[in-house]
Amino acid sequence: MKLIAPLLIAVFAAASTFSACAAEAEAAPAAHAEAAPAKAAKPDLAKGEASFTAVCAACHGADGNSGTPAYPKLAQQHPEYLVKQLQEFKSDKRNNPIMKGFASALSDEDMKNIAYWVTTKKAKTGFAKDKELVALGERIYRGGIADRQVPACAGCHSPNGAGIPSQYPRLSGQHAEYAVAQLTAFRDGGRKNSLQMTQVAAKMNDREIKAVADYIAGLR
Ligand code: HEC
Ligand code: HEC
Repeated sequence: MKLIAPLLIAVFAAASTFSACAAEAEAAPAAHAEAAPAKAAKPDLAKGEASFTAVCAACHGADGNSGTPAYPKLAQQHPEYLVKQLQEFKSDKRNNPIMKGFASALSDEDMKNIAYWVTTKKAKTGFAKDKELVALGERIYRGGIADRQVPACAGCHSPNGAGIPSQYPRLSGQHAEYAVAQLTAFRDGGRKNSLQMTQVAAKMNDREIKAVADYIAGLR
C-alpha cells in the first residue's frame, strides 16, 4: 500500500507535464529498486493498470473496450503493436493531436506497463451493421480484390481477425467507424506509419473500406 502515493504522484506528473518533471518523479521510486537492468525489466502490470485507469480509461474504457466508436478498443491487442503506436504518436510518425499529448507524457517503461496490462483484458465482440455491404466485406477480408491486387486481409490479420503477434494487429470486434478512419487515412496519407497498409488501402474505394470495416466489427 505504501507504494500508492508515489505512484499517483508519478501518474499525475506524467499526465500533466511531458519533460524533466515526469522523468524525475518516476526516477524516485525506481531508485529504491534492486540493481535490475533498467530496460530489460518485466512489465509492471499494477503500474500499468493504475496509469491506464487514471488517464486512458476515460476514452478507451475501463477495461480497454471503448464504448465510443471514434476511440479504438485496446483490450487483447498485441502489446508490441500498442507500444509501437504509442512511440510513434510521441515521435509524430503517426499523426494524431489527441494521442500525441497522452503518449508524450509516457516513458518507454510506462508504455510497456500499460500495453502488457490492457492486453490481458478480454476484447468485447461487436456486430456488423450493414446488411447490404457485409457480404462484400467478407469477400474482401477473405479473398482481397483480385483485379486490383488488393491482398486478402486474412493473410496478415488471420482468418478470425485475431492478428498475428507481434507484427499484425488484432482487428476483430474493432469499431467500424475507427477502422474506416484508419483505412482512409492510410490511403490518403494521413497515417504514414505502415507502408504495408498504405499499399493495401491505396486501391480501395470508400464503399469497399466501409464494407470491410463493417465485417471486421462483427468478426470473432
Ligand atoms: C481524449 C481521449 C483519449 C485519451 C484520454 C486517450 N486516448 Fe488513446 N486514442 C484516442 C483516439 C481518438 C485515438 C485514435 C487516433 C487516430 O485516429 O489515429 C487513440 C488511439 C490510441 C492507440 C492506437 C490504437 C490502435 O489500434 O492503433 C493507442 C495504443 C492508445 N490510443 C493508447 C492510449 C493510452 C495508453 C492512453 C493513456 C495514456 C490513451 N490512449 C488516452 C483518444 C484518447
Ligand atoms: C501484408 C500484410 C497486411 C495485409 C495484407 C493487411 N494488413 Fe492491415 N495491417 C498490417 C500491419 C503491419 C498493420 C500495423 C501497422 C502499424 O504498425 O501501424 C496493419 C494495421 C491495420 C489497421 C489499423 C489497426 C488499428 O488498430 O489501428 C487496419 C484497420 C487494417 N490493418 C485493416 C486491414 C484490412 C481491411 C486489410 C485488407 C483489405 C488489411 N489490413 C490487410 C498488415 C497487413
